[in-house]
Amino acid sequence: MEQTYLMIKPDGVSRKLTGELINRFEKKGFTLRAAKMITISEELAKEHYGEHADKPFFPGLINFITSGPVFAMVLEGNNVIKEARKMMGATNPEEASPGTIRGDFATEMSENIIHGSDSKESAKREINLFFPEL
Ligand code: CMP
Repeated sequence: MEQTYLMIKPDGVSRKLTGELINRFEKKGFTLRAAKMITISEELAKEHYGEHADKPFFPGLINFITSGPVFAMVLEGNNVIKEARKMMGATNPEEASPGTIRGDFATEMSENIIHGSDSKESAKREINLFFPEL
């Protein structure tokens, strides 16, 4: 069964959206396999977002993602990598449709509530990074 890595970002946690978001994924039919609340170290954040290291927004992204606890999850189900991203909506909330998580709860790219793996390779890498015990 396919698995993906999802992470409710510090804005989603502080806005108390964790329950609402888990509820959406469970109602869809996906299974929560693992979950934990953690505050990410700068080192882990830089490794996780390594592909963006050259981007101008990288320092702000690292600052933001380490600014408070995140809710890290492994979600399982049919086609979950693609389906969870559909439920999240476009990365830029201005382009995210109503009914999606970012369309319903976010207004700006830098605080877009949730992260989800974008491919099977990223899912494997990110699950290993955040849940090495799995
Ligand atoms: P995420 O799916 O976690 O992956 C990389 C993150 O970088 C992305 O969500 C956004 O939060 C952030 N991001 C991408 N592009 C920009 C941008 N142009 N300005 C600020 N943040 C960005």
